[in-house]
Amino acid sequence: MKLYNKYAAWWPVLSSPKDYKEEAGLYRKIINKHKKSITTALELGCGGGNNASYLKKHYQMTLSDVSPHMLKMSKKLNPECRHVLGDMRTINLHKKFDLVFIHDAVMYMTSENDLKKVFATAYNHLSEGGIVFITPDYFKETFKPKTSHGGHDDPVSGRSLRYLEWEYDGDPSDTTVETDFAYIFRERNKPVRVDRDISITGIFPKKTWEKLLREMGFRVYFEPMEHSELEPGSYIGIVGRK
Ligand SMILES: C[S@@+](CC[C@H](N)C(=O)[O-])C[C@H]1O[C@@H](n2cnc3c(N)ncnc32)[C@H](O)[C@@H]1O
Repeated sequence: MKLYNKYAAWWPVLSSPKDYKEEAGLYRKIINKHKKSITTALELGCGGGNNASYLKKHYQMTLSDVSPHMLKMSKKLNPECRHVLGDMRTINLHKKFDLVFIHDAVMYMTSENDLKKVFATAYNHLSEGGIVFITPDYFKETFKPKTSHGGHDDPVSGRSLRYLEWEYDGDPSDTTVETDFAYIFRERNKPVRVDRDISITGIFPKKTWEKLLREMGFRVYFEPMEHSELEPGSYIGIVGRK
């Protein structure tokens, strides 16, 4: 996506770390419920590091992403964390963690084979009794087409961005969902610019997640989460215990 490459520097104007406080609190509660003593954590697909900016207060975090541009943004926000470039399907740090966290970046896994590879990455990076915590945006059962909009003003850089996001499942028989984005960029003393972007994400039934995680050797728990901006019952996390 252009957002994670050409426009990565605009990420905090599109998606501000402030907006992640509530969800990071929910994640922390669920992680705590499943494992009390966590020292080290690895996030796969950390993006700009917005969630990590809260979770790092509780864990020693290593943050990884496939986009060097997004890692650069996360390094600015989380300079105290170790950052590593890598694809969540193949990365190998030769190190074990108490927790592996995979937030919305897991949505970029568009086939069962992709999911299997990510679960293998998580398993290989966990110590015995460690947990993987995954928060997909939706499952086949909870997906609803939607439009949303947002954006922020950054008084320091003088940059403002607004976006419209339109998510739909063009072919319900396949394992992907399309999202079209329209961006409006405003920058001090520059003409307003407009661009579009598209993301292709994966969609799978809960039973597929459960089966693939079990096959990898995890014990699996679904954890419903209530967030003030989301429809009740629509957001479900997954915990896998090694
Ligand atoms: C929406 S952003 C993540 C934002 C993040 N959850 C946060 O709290 O700031 C999605 C990220 O997934 C990353 N990504 C996509 N495919 C990936 C892959 N195969 N391996 C690692 N990261 C990936 C993108 O580069 C992008 O930075």
